[in-house]
Amino acid sequence: MTEPGDQQDDPPDPGPEDWWLDAVVYQIYPRSFQDSSGDGVGDLPGIVDRLDYLCQTVGVDAIWLSPIYPSPGLDVGYDVADHRRVDPVFGTEADFDRLVAEAHRRGMRLILDLVMNHTSDRSAWFEASRQSRDNPYADWYLWRDPAGFGADGSPLPPNNWVSFFGGPGWTWEPRRGQFYQHTFLAQQPDLNWREPAVEAAQWAMVRGWLDRGVDGFRLDVFNAFLKHPDLPSNPEQPGSTAWTRQVHVHDRDQADFVELLDRFRALVDAEPGRITIGELFDGGPERAAAMTRGQHLVFDWELIAAPWSAGEFRATVERRERLFGPERRPTLVFSNHDQPRQASRFARSAGSDDVDAIAKAAAVLLVGLRGTPFLYYGEELGMVDVEIPPDEIVDPPARIAGPDFPWWNRDQCRTPMPWTGEPGAGFTTGRPWLRIGPDAARRNVAAEAADEGSVLATYRRLLEARRSVLALRRGSYESIDAGEDDVFAWRRVAPGSRAVVAVNFAGVDCRIRLPAGEARRVVAGTHLDPPAPDGDGVVTLRPFEGLILADG
Ligand code: GLC
Repeated sequence: MTEPGDQQDDPPDPGPEDWWLDAVVYQIYPRSFQDSSGDGVGDLPGIVDRLDYLCQTVGVDAIWLSPIYPSPGLDVGYDVADHRRVDPVFGTEADFDRLVAEAHRRGMRLILDLVMNHTSDRSAWFEASRQSRDNPYADWYLWRDPAGFGADGSPLPPNNWVSFFGGPGWTWEPRRGQFYQHTFLAQQPDLNWREPAVEAAQWAMVRGWLDRGVDGFRLDVFNAFLKHPDLPSNPEQPGSTAWTRQVHVHDRDQADFVELLDRFRALVDAEPGRITIGELFDGGPERAAAMTRGQHLVFDWELIAAPWSAGEFRATVERRERLFGPERRPTLVFSNHDQPRQASRFARSAGSDDVDAIAKAAAVLLVGLRGTPFLYYGEELGMVDVEIPPDEIVDPPARIAGPDFPWWNRDQCRTPMPWTGEPGAGFTTGRPWLRIGPDAARRNVAAEAADEGSVLATYRRLLEARRSVLALRRGSYESIDAGEDDVFAWRRVAPGSRAVVAVNFAGVDCRIRLPAGEARRVVAGTHLDPPAPDGDGVVTLRPFEGLILADG
């Protein structure tokens, strides 16, 4: 057994450095993927046991793990107490090193989630910082004197900032006689990135993970790291919640953040082939494009919010293409651990209960559009949001939601992965930390792997197509007018390879005309018997049918 951080004598070679240009990334929410210990919580040995499923049955190239660090769990892992270690609930340090080695042995890559905007209030840094105004960590967080005192003698916060998770953005610490700032829960104090020792400590932590062979990082709410140096109040505007009634010009998106990002990339670039993905905390594709560079990608919210409409999808994709240009790589994300499941969201938007058909059509979009696809665990089964009774709610903002603070309960998209139809769904032999979806007896990996017409089998065929057609991985993008409003069609072109993709967003047949004589081979689609266009390029797509044609 190796000690944490030990280099193996002969580490497995995960493959070429430009892997990320071809990769499909699979997001694992570790608590919910596979429990190997029977405590009802997913863990790292469980993930190791499922690597063959990921690379062979589904056919993804990289995994991104939502946080695995010690955490009091108030924001279910996004409140990190120590970024350098593995939470024992997920396994040991050696389990982590084994996961990296086993992923690499299969030619897969591993991406960690770094939550560097804030820590847990239980981190050693904050525990020290809150003690006094003159300890080595005193300036590591955003401490400010009160703006004054109210009539009853209570201290008044330094400015008008509020928390994204509801309530004030400042919490009083009597020991210092000061407030500290928090963008999220009071138990998630924001770090002071303008303090050089904070940056140095973060980079040391990042280097530690790079040394352990990690292939990349997702950066949680990265454009919020830097605040305005003077912390002025945000301007106000009309809005429906305390958060939307402010224009967030001073608590994120500072001009000098670009330099911070460059310093971070320089550190990561010291190891070849490492990618990073910044999660935009709010902000559209303009900002995403501006912050995308080389091997640093950005998550924006356009596709995750897009309604099920061919016209809207086309307009969104064209806008992103204009903003990103051919050089920068967009991300393709329809769901994640904060958002509704894509099958639920799109089916609701389409006004249809044919969840499976819509899940398959969404898969064609994810695999066929230009960009790096990110697939949230369980989407390959067509998993849907699970209703959580109020007394079982875990998501902290959902527990305080009310008319003044509407919040979508994120537990609904975080339920355990159904592997089999047995009790516990093959996820756990114990009591699952969050209830398992009521459809698990039918919608599970074992059942779908045995059914050629399932959502899982469709993903497998589509990902195979992506691997075999260069244009789908690296090609340029161009819209095609197929002569029917409900069908979104486009072409992808790479040297020696060309693909044409069409998706019918309607629940009825649509007869369309694709360019004749171009991309003639039927490669894959939502259905087991995808139709071939006739000599004039005319083809009829069935309800929610997607089709991929290629040459080369
Ligand atoms: C990001 C995470 C979310 C978390 C928040 C605060 O948006 O995706 O899950 O609650 O940051 O860390």
